[in-house]
Amino acid sequence: MSKHTFITTDPKDAKVVDVHKLLLGGVAPRPIALVSTISSDGINNLSPFSFFNAFGANPPVVAFSPSRRGRDGSTKDTLHNLEATRECVVHAVSYDIVEQVSLASTEYPPEVDEFVKSGLSPLDSEFVRPKRVAESPFHMECKVVEIFPLGEKNGSGNLVICEVIKFHIAESVFTDGVINPNLINLVGRNSANYYTKAFDSAIFEIEKPIATLGIGIDQLPDHIKDSKTLTGNHLGKLGNIEALPSRDDVHSFVASLTDSNFEPNDYQKAFVQALNIADKAQRDSQIEQAAIKALEENDNKFAIYALISIIS
Ligand SMILES: Cc1cc2nc3c(=O)[nH]c(=O)nc-3n(C[C@H](O)[C@H](O)[C@H](O)COP(=O)(O)O)c2cc1C
Repeated sequence: MSKHTFITTDPKDAKVVDVHKLLLGGVAPRPIALVSTISSDGINNLSPFSFFNAFGANPPVVAFSPSRRGRDGSTKDTLHNLEATRECVVHAVSYDIVEQVSLASTEYPPEVDEFVKSGLSPLDSEFVRPKRVAESPFHMECKVVEIFPLGEKNGSGNLVICEVIKFHIAESVFTDGVINPNLINLVGRNSANYYTKAFDSAIFEIEKPIATLGIGIDQLPDHIKDSKTLTGNHLGKLGNIEALPSRDDVHSFVASLTDSNFEPNDYQKAFVQALNIADKAQRDSQIEQAAIKALEENDNKFAIYALISIIS
C-alpha cells in the first residue's frame, strides 16, 4: 500500500484565492449544476455552480453555493434572484453543452438574458417560473428551502438548499430503467480549467461490499497484508471475502486446477505454471501475479485461494 508525505495549510494563514484553489483541486471532480433563475423583473439568468450536490431522496434535496466574489465580496445575480423568487431549475451538464455552459458563467449584467447569450433554448417549467434548458438531459424544478450565508467576506459561500418538486429526464439516457453514464455523458469540474468526462473510459464498476460482513484487511494473513506487490485496492477486494479458506480447502482447490479434465482460463493457467517453478521467491511472485489478474477479473475467491496457497 502506498503512503504519502504531506504539505499542510492552515486556511487562517492562507490567501482566500489559494484556499479556493485547494478546494477546486481536492474536492473534484464536482458535478455541475446549471441553475436557471428569474429576476423579479422577469429576466432569465443561467449560471453554472460546481459547489453542488444532492443530499437526500425523501424529500429530494439538492444544494449549491453561489459564493461572494473573491475580488470584492459582492454577491451574484443567481443569489439575488433566489432571494427574490425562491425558485430555480437545476440542470445536469452533459459534454455536448459544456462550452455553452462555460459561456453562461460570464458575468453579464443582470438585465442580460443568459439563455440568449449562451444560445441554449428555454423551455417552460411546470411548477416554477424559471425556464428549463432544452439541451440538458436532466432537469430538476426546485423550490428554495433555505439560504444559509456561510460568511460575509470575499469568497464566502451561500448555501442554497432546494427541494426538487419535479424531475424531467431525457428518455434517451436510460438503459433498463437506470441512467446510463455512457448515454447521459455528464461532465465534472476539477481545478483551474480542467473538466472531467464522466463517461467512456472514465467509468468503472466496484461491486458493493457483500451483505454478510467481509473479513476486513486486518484479518488477511501477514504475507498478503505485507506484500510489496499487492496494492490497497487489491487488499480492499480481498478484505471483502466472507471467510478465509482452510488449509484443506486450498489443497483441494489446487488439486481441482491440476485435474487433467479441467480447462483453465489465463490466470488459472498462470497459477498452475507457477506451482511448477522450483525457486520459491519466483514461484510466490508468479502466484501473486496470477492472483492480481484474478482480482482484476473480480474472481476474488480464486485470488485468496491462490495467495493462501503460498504458505499452505
Ligand atoms: C463550471 C463552472 C462552475 C462554477 N461553479 C461556481 C460555484 O460553485 N460557485 C460560484 O459562486 N461560482 C461558480 N462559477 C462561476 C459562476 O458561474 C459565475 O460567477 C457566474 O457568472 C455567476 O453568474 P450570476 O452573477 O449571473 O449569478 C462556476 C463557473 C463555471 C464555469
